[in-house]
Amino acid sequence: MRIGILTGGGDCPGLNAVLRAAAKTLINQHNATVFGFYDGWEGVIENRYEELEYQELSGILTLGGTILGTSNKANPLKYYKQNDKNVVADCVKTYTDLQLDGIIALGGDGTMSISYELMKAGINVVGCPKTIDNDLMGTDITFGFDTAVSIATEALDRIQTTAQSHHRILIVETMGRYAGWIALHAGVASGSDIIVIPEIPYQVDKIAEICVKRENGGQRFTLICIAEGAKSVDGEMTVKQTVKESYDPIRLGGVANTLAAQLEGKVHSEIRTTILGHVQRGGTPTAFDRVLSTRFGAAAAEQAAAKNWGVMVALQNDQMVNIKLNEVAHIQRLVTLDSPLLKSAKSIGIGFGD
Ligand code: F6P
Repeated sequence: MRIGILTGGGDCPGLNAVLRAAAKTLINQHNATVFGFYDGWEGVIENRYEELEYQELSGILTLGGTILGTSNKANPLKYYKQNDKNVVADCVKTYTDLQLDGIIALGGDGTMSISYELMKAGINVVGCPKTIDNDLMGTDITFGFDTAVSIATEALDRIQTTAQSHHRILIVETMGRYAGWIALHAGVASGSDIIVIPEIPYQVDKIAEICVKRENGGQRFTLICIAEGAKSVDGEMTVKQTVKESYDPIRLGGVANTLAAQLEGKVHSEIRTTILGHVQRGGTPTAFDRVLSTRFGAAAAEQAAAKNWGVMVALQNDQMVNIKLNEVAHIQRLVTLDSPLLKSAKSIGIGFGD
């Protein structure tokens, strides 16, 4: 067998662990030749790759980032380097010239949606669910999420002690795009007093009320964890910049500052903000993500070996399953109002600004 593998979209902890598991399984169990494409679909479009030798796969389990590089602009349907031209034919040429049986694509929503379109052009794909945002349909969890939550939690823990010392309101902003998973989990894990997520538009007065109650009640600080996609009931998401070449051009960021400005005059304490940003995507994966990535990589390799194309491997009730790519493409998994963790958080008195 001849299998290509690539990492697409934003990077996240666990990519190398998945690459290692997938390639080792293909080589060990199926005597396959494995080619790693550089920079996501860009490597397929531009015919840039290397054969992944077994030795190269050693020592990368714990390594952050991706040894292959990635790109969140390499959309073959609208390629930014060629005036947004459709370059699917170039992908098909690389694929055919290399005599590939299929490609394992590690990525999020954008990568899965592109994979689905490339399947229609005759490129066989198995997807593997990567993203710190945890917003992919069909899987209970994506790899990278646990690490991002751990990093955000550690930051919130550290910020809480300084909030306490100075009797301040500290607002910490997590990533997550349009989903509140990172903020919800890190907020609960750190004992945040208020968690603000995109799925529950917030009322400034409700958040101010909780802060003032704490000021008056002897708890002289408030820790607020807010997801970058959050917005007030009558406001819009806070957009930091647009990257027009990207599959989703909107880059969120700065809602912590928006909320701080909205709270000014309504509370007595000083307010400070911290935007965690890309620190949540960097560095070594947690033990949980190393194990999950190994399971995902091995499962993706087995699907490729079985020529079960057009699926994304997924975790459901601790079992590895396959979901058809058309069932995950273009759909996001958001926090729902009946989410068990949301209910637990509300029952212990965490405010959501609603
Ligand atoms: O999808 C992962 C993610 O880190 C989001 O949480 C965030 O909104 C976005 O990517 C940031 O993208 P970029 O790396 O292009 O700034």
